[in-house]
Amino acid sequence: MKLVQLAGAVTALALLGGAQAQQPIVLKFSHVVTDDTPKGKGAIRFKELAEAKTKGRVKVEIYPNSQLYKDREELEALQLGAVQMLAPSVSKFGPLGVRKFEVFDLPYMFADESSLERVVGGPVGAELFKLLEPKGIVGLAYWFNGFKEFSANKPLRKLDDFKGLKIRIQSSKILEGEIKAFGAIPQVMAFSEVYTALQQGVVDGEENTPSNKYTQKMHEVQKHMTMSDHGVVMYAVVVNKKFWDGLPADIRKNLSEAMRDSTRYVWDIAKKENDDALAKIKAAKTTEVYALPPAEKAAWRKAMLPLYREHEGAVGKDTLEAIERTVAQSSAKK
Ligand code: LMR
Repeated sequence: MKLVQLAGAVTALALLGGAQAQQPIVLKFSHVVTDDTPKGKGAIRFKELAEAKTKGRVKVEIYPNSQLYKDREELEALQLGAVQMLAPSVSKFGPLGVRKFEVFDLPYMFADESSLERVVGGPVGAELFKLLEPKGIVGLAYWFNGFKEFSANKPLRKLDDFKGLKIRIQSSKILEGEIKAFGAIPQVMAFSEVYTALQQGVVDGEENTPSNKYTQKMHEVQKHMTMSDHGVVMYAVVVNKKFWDGLPADIRKNLSEAMRDSTRYVWDIAKKENDDALAKIKAAKTTEVYALPPAEKAAWRKAMLPLYREHEGAVGKDTLEAIERTVAQSSAKK
């Protein structure tokens, strides 16, 4: 029996199980971070709400920390129906052939999370989700983690400090361009492999939120961290389309409500999760944390601006302009 037929059978069985034997419908939610992160806590909250709202007709099984699949594999597993739900970073949809999500990787596009939340809550967010449907995937929500900071085993205070360093990135062409614009060498790598790669010197540094750095113990193998706030880690919560469309309507409604409420929860806790993680990194005294002065931050931002024009075609001029308009409106409101 071919793999696709098998996967189809698995999805049908998962749905059939519930109907025939009152067995709950099993929803496998796989992700690559620990439970003690904005996404990890969001997944747990979704499980609690989904099981409560469906009165046990749905059972959510969470597989955190790349237990089941690493970055690239998880999207393939979702398409095959081996798992039903994921929340990958929006920087990881390029390999699926949907590079437009990389628009969120343009450095220094967002000064705060409220303008980002407005963008994904509007037409841009919906338009991007539509691009996933032909891939057999339905987008349900956007979850936020935080702003990215650089780390390495040498101080990163000037653009020149990056020269020749190998920096780990997610699988995004814009992030590749970003690291090259810093004069460093980009290295795409699965999240679960980053700690060991830093420890063994396969890469010299990486960019991530304090929450991801702390929960993966990266601070133990990075002597320096610069608070550059140069980008965001944000997620798209996605489900297998066949599974989602095949659900009884009342169940789908319950799960949509559970997703709406857990999404609110994730955006509400994200900043504190990262502030707490940063405090723990500082308390561990393994990493010197450097606050990038505004003048230097402005120089880094300026060095990244050519990327906007270079990647305009791939992310869509209209999409880029729509985001820039929303961001401008948000800051005008301040
Ligand atoms: C990364 O690969 O650095 C992040 O996307 C991991 C995550 O899911 O937060």
